[in-house]
Amino acid sequence: MNEDLFKKICGSYPTGVTVITSVEDKTNYGFTANSFTSVSINPLLVLFCLNKAANSNKALKTNKFFIINILSSDQSKICNQFANNKLSPEKRFDGVETKNSKNNIKIISNSIAWIECKIKNIIDGGDHFIYLGEVLSGSLSEKKQPLVYHNGMIKKLFKSF
Ligand SMILES: Cc1cc2nc3c(=O)[nH]c(=O)nc-3n(C[C@H](O)[C@H](O)[C@H](O)COP(=O)(O)O)c2cc1C
Repeated sequence: MNEDLFKKICGSYPTGVTVITSVEDKTNYGFTANSFTSVSINPLLVLFCLNKAANSNKALKTNKFFIINILSSDQSKICNQFANNKLSPEKRFDGVETKNSKNNIKIISNSIAWIECKIKNIIDGGDHFIYLGEVLSGSLSEKKQPLVYHNGMIKKLFKSF
């Protein structure tokens, strides 16, 4: 299959949008990711995929802890800010309200939910690394609506059946 068709097929599958945060040597890192998925209930495991060229790999591999922040429908600006690789790690947090987790990682306020994880395994995934994380803690705001990524665009849910 050619790359273009592969991208279009994968893009036709809607996902939520997360920002994955980490810290290394007092510098905070964060990037937008739609590759988050749950993996296992017993034990509780999740995964995400990160481009091997991404800056966050070093922080993740050094610190071993990360937070998955699941973005809500009013956080499209945050989605774009954390996907902008022209911004330095700290600049990505400009104007973003946060609090610190037990492991000193930034939790983005007003997200739908967050999950704090410890890296269990890093698996080779072609031009990406697959990070498998053991779930430690988390929190959920059930009333919020999610941001949705579909066909290369950020959307909101508009109808439920
Ligand atoms: C909606 C959306 C989803 C994204 N999902 C991923 C992803 O799952 N994995 C990835 O490596 N990059 C993903 N990106 C791109 C990264 O957010 C972007 O390359 C970021 O600059 C990487 O940050 P870093 O190099 O500072 O670690 C996504 C971008 C957007 C807009």
